[in-house]
Amino acid sequence: MAAVRIEEVVGDFVSLRKQGQDFVGICPFHDDKNPSMHVSPRLGIYKCFVCDAAGNPVKFLMEHEKMSYPEAIEYLAKKYGIPLEYERSESDEERQQRTLRESLLIVNEFAQKYFVDQLRNTEEGKLMGMAYLKERGFMDATIDKFGLGYCPDGWDNFTKAALEKGYKEEYLIELGLTGKSQSGKLYDIYRGRVIFPIHNDAGKVIGFGGRILKKDGKDPRKYVNSRENTIYHKSDTLYGIYFAKNAIHKQQNVYLVEGYTDVISMHESGVENVVASSGTSLTQGQIRMITKRTQNITVLYDGDMAGIKASMRGIDMLLEQGLKIRVCLLPDGEDPDSFAKKHRDSELQDYLAAESKDFLLFKADILSKEAGNDPIKRASMVNEILKSISCVKDNIERAFYVKECAKLFDLSENDLNLNLRRFVWEKTKEQGRAALQQQQAQQNAGGFSGQPTAETVEVPDVIDTKKHSDLAQQTDLLFEAEKDLVLLMLSYGNFLIYEAGDEESSGVRIDQYICNEMQKEDIRLHYKLLQEIFDKYVDWASYIGNQDQIIRNFTLADDPQISEFVIRNIPVEEPKFSDRWKDKYDIHTHTTRNNLRILQNQVQNILLTLKLRILENDATVIQKVLESEELAEDDMVLALQQLNSINQMKKEISKRLNRVVSR
Ligand code: UTP
Ligand code: MN
Repeated sequence: MAAVRIEEVVGDFVSLRKQGQDFVGICPFHDDKNPSMHVSPRLGIYKCFVCDAAGNPVKFLMEHEKMSYPEAIEYLAKKYGIPLEYERSESDEERQQRTLRESLLIVNEFAQKYFVDQLRNTEEGKLMGMAYLKERGFMDATIDKFGLGYCPDGWDNFTKAALEKGYKEEYLIELGLTGKSQSGKLYDIYRGRVIFPIHNDAGKVIGFGGRILKKDGKDPRKYVNSRENTIYHKSDTLYGIYFAKNAIHKQQNVYLVEGYTDVISMHESGVENVVASSGTSLTQGQIRMITKRTQNITVLYDGDMAGIKASMRGIDMLLEQGLKIRVCLLPDGEDPDSFAKKHRDSELQDYLAAESKDFLLFKADILSKEAGNDPIKRASMVNEILKSISCVKDNIERAFYVKECAKLFDLSENDLNLNLRRFVWEKTKEQGRAALQQQQAQQNAGGFSGQPTAETVEVPDVIDTKKHSDLAQQTDLLFEAEKDLVLLMLSYGNFLIYEAGDEESSGVRIDQYICNEMQKEDIRLHYKLLQEIFDKYVDWASYIGNQDQIIRNFTLADDPQISEFVIRNIPVEEPKFSDRWKDKYDIHTHTTRNNLRILQNQVQNILLTLKLRILENDATVIQKVLESEELAEDDMVLALQQLNSINQMKKEISKRLNRVVSR
């Protein structure tokens, strides 16, 4: 884990921008429009400030790529060239959880290699498959890069080969590689087709598209595609994403085309930031795969007007996601594949650059032409365009579109704005309602989570509060106080403070000071998790000099509760003297000495608050016991004394904290 760099791991999947010491990017875990995900190389964690997603590199891979824990470790080991040794065999449960997924991937890997072998090393493969691909003009290097293959035209050549190698029939069927006839005979689904493997964005083969060679009427389907299964979800797949990732990142734009062959041909022409939706309009999942890498998308259309108009509505959805959309219209009758084949590389690239137009202006232009001079038609077109414009998030952009639209339809901007405001308003209302519903759903589901429950309360007096932990009610405040103390240790433990009046001395580390205080007053934290973190900290701080390293250790802790807690609560910013403290202590100058005093005060403040909370907790417990139990008279007196002395201490501490006792 010491070799792993969080920004490189997250960066494999999310486009990151440097911001100060950290990196920021569009959060892939919610519908993010602005970069809300912060990645901290210093702490080795990512954290989204909107949806609360947070974690270490392993967690990222598990959440984002749906990897199991071992898969994530293997991914990292591979990425950083570290050999893995397997010490222990998995538990049955662990194995079961990941076998299906992994088995399916392994079977696909076998199938893909088999199809490549057939294409390259068999007579039929060369004569049928390779000949077809060459005829279409694909280069050898490209065929290799995309892993294209061929499935022989027999009944069950592939299935037999797979079964012989020991791959299970049920997996072959699950993957849609093999079918079963009514008489129970197994057959190859892809027989007689060229194979386009479909990769996920980590480069694993999750499915296949198989293209028929000739239309001879027997099978009407041009392509056969994998069926939905645990590893292949059509709606979360973009063909070509693995090969486009880097280019998308670099160019900050992605071309969207329809088919497998369009992607491949554009690669051959040197345009690598291209993905295919595989013949359908984009789904939310696919859009998210794009938005986490870039905000700019260029849709390539062939010149067919009917097709363009059909897809326009789908594109409004992209606008709502905050994407900047451009369209590029290809000459009539051409698709990206045929166009790329007919032109030199530079010609395609120049064409894309010159002909890409803003989507809304393009749409307005087309609709305006189509409506001609019919006023009713023109009015309804204008409204349709305004609806699209209302999807645009940025006010200035919207104003710009209105201006253009006014010109195109020869209308006043004021009139357009009137209707536009209505559409925007309706949209906002809808979104507000949806958000409210979501919020309510969350509240109903139980709301606040992740806070451990209070442990027993120890009062070494008459009343054994251990027996009465259910009576304690100050748990939230107590938890906060203990949490503040632990976080203070983590963030500032290595800073020095000075005993009052002894500021010339060499000082004492904050963590050591707190430790001493805790021992002196015999304070244990009531929340087990926090005490564990405290103990671990004390242990690590005794031999790890670097504070950041200590925090990184926590973020990687074996106990997920511990790593979760630290990742969630540690501030991403470098520890510095908080502005809040300045206000609080009314310090006007910024000298080191003043800063030290602020920190020192903060330490005292946190310690005193904790003591106060503990006393409050004890007092509550004793009161409850007094109310609910019949105590012997002697005990009653003692208990009242106990309560009295607690209240006395509370008052004193409150005074020192400069607070008023509430009760
Ligand atoms: P196209 O018909 O444009 O196919 O469908 P293509 O990829 O350009 O193939 P060529 O150039 O004719 O050989 C676009 C995409 O729609 C999906 C495929 O993903 C295809 O790439 N499709 C099309 C199917 O899944 N099944 C079909 O029968 C047809
Ligand atoms: Mn085509």
